[in-house]
Amino acid sequence: MTGPRRETLEKLTPVLTKRWLSPEAWRIGVYEQLDGYAALRKALAAHPDDLIQLIKDSGLRGRGGAGFPTGLKWGFIPQNDGKPHYLVVNADEGEPGTCKDLPLMTHDPHSLVEGVIIASYAIRANRAFIYIRGEAVHAARRLRNAVREAYAKGYLGTNILGSGHDLDLVVHSGAGAYICGEETALLDSLEGFRGQPRLRPPFPATHGLYASPTVVNNVGTIASVPYIVLGGADWWKSMGTEKSSGPMIYSLSGRIANPGQYECSLGVTLRELIELAGGMLPGHNLRFWTPGGSSTPLLTAEHLDVPLDFEGVAGAGSILGTTATQIFSDQDCPVYATYKWLEFYYHESCGKCTPCREGNYWMVGIYRRILSGAGTHQDLDTLLDTCDNILGRAFCGLGDGATSPVTSSMKYFKQDYLDYIEGRKAPRLSAKQLVGA
Ligand code: NAI
Repeated sequence: MTGPRRETLEKLTPVLTKRWLSPEAWRIGVYEQLDGYAALRKALAAHPDDLIQLIKDSGLRGRGGAGFPTGLKWGFIPQNDGKPHYLVVNADEGEPGTCKDLPLMTHDPHSLVEGVIIASYAIRANRAFIYIRGEAVHAARRLRNAVREAYAKGYLGTNILGSGHDLDLVVHSGAGAYICGEETALLDSLEGFRGQPRLRPPFPATHGLYASPTVVNNVGTIASVPYIVLGGADWWKSMGTEKSSGPMIYSLSGRIANPGQYECSLGVTLRELIELAGGMLPGHNLRFWTPGGSSTPLLTAEHLDVPLDFEGVAGAGSILGTTATQIFSDQDCPVYATYKWLEFYYHESCGKCTPCREGNYWMVGIYRRILSGAGTHQDLDTLLDTCDNILGRAFCGLGDGATSPVTSSMKYFKQDYLDYIEGRKAPRLSAKQLVGA
């Protein structure tokens, strides 16, 4: 097999991933030798408002999936309001296929801790939390160790590096519920309640943790901050596209030779990513893929040259999401893949709202019927009707996300559904599996 061409290799822009291969970069001494905490010293010498302006100028957008402008979010925090402010890092990464935050926290936890300290200084927060999913035991251990090391060196605690700024940082492990990645459910969970979403607005920026102004940002967003402080807004904007600046970690999984994390400027295409990953597995041809996790509508081989930035993917009828590109081939069935995703949403629905709780339950049942060879044409209409009644009517975005694989697989692969219903395709499930839902 031939390797990637030079012009494709140049698409790799290791910024957040650059320390991942350095041995023991998770130890503070090694991190400091690799420019670690230099950005913090620079940031603490600046005015907090200037830091917010820097992040606005860089065009940094949230890396958790929604792509909300980070500087704008920080700027929403009211000043001189007499209330405590909080920074909460959403490290609950749970979107199927998404695995970019976990290696970052494991290999380079101090970059996140340094970003937390700078961001907290900018928004005048004296308490910060990293909410990490319960299953990520090793990453949580690394983070807690990094926090301990940072306290010992005076980067956390009172009067950080003589700046007068105080910050306490707590790493909190969740219990492994997908819903707790939704920012308001995460805040409820952090407060000790059962994790269920709150009504928005008001947004956390004004009514967040303990009803106080709170910035909730993804791991990748906060870990980007030290690089922007050191490199400047223009350097950050020199990567990516006009409205989607900077590098992004693309997580490739599925039918490719070398699955893993590929950090490239926003706007790289799937064709280039597959080339970087050594091509498709022998004997497999691309059939469908998710641009950013299972909550983002599927794309197909027609979309190989779509720029993977927020605007490019939206133009193709999908969402950039978490840049978790799950790659499926002509040996994979889009109906079965959708069913497996739906089982996930059904299992993870928090049950607070009827559209998501009931809709996913019924859709799983319909998929089981279709895949066991007992489906009807009416089932296809019922599926679309159910999606209509979830999308925009569910209490939070996670309900909406469940409809994406259903509607997009029916848009591109209706024939596969008909093949099961009309008996041209052998059933994938036995009638026994219909029981229960
Ligand atoms: P959203 O677009 O509603 O909000 C994005 C952020 O901007 C939030 O922090 C919100 O508080 C803030 N915001 C939006 N409008 C605001 C306003 N007017 N004032 C103040 N703040 C405002 O998106 P949401 O529901 O938070 O996230 C959905 C995304 O999450 C999806 O695109 C999906 O890809 C992604 N996702 C990521 C997962 C992961 O594991 N990383 C898991 C599941 C979904």
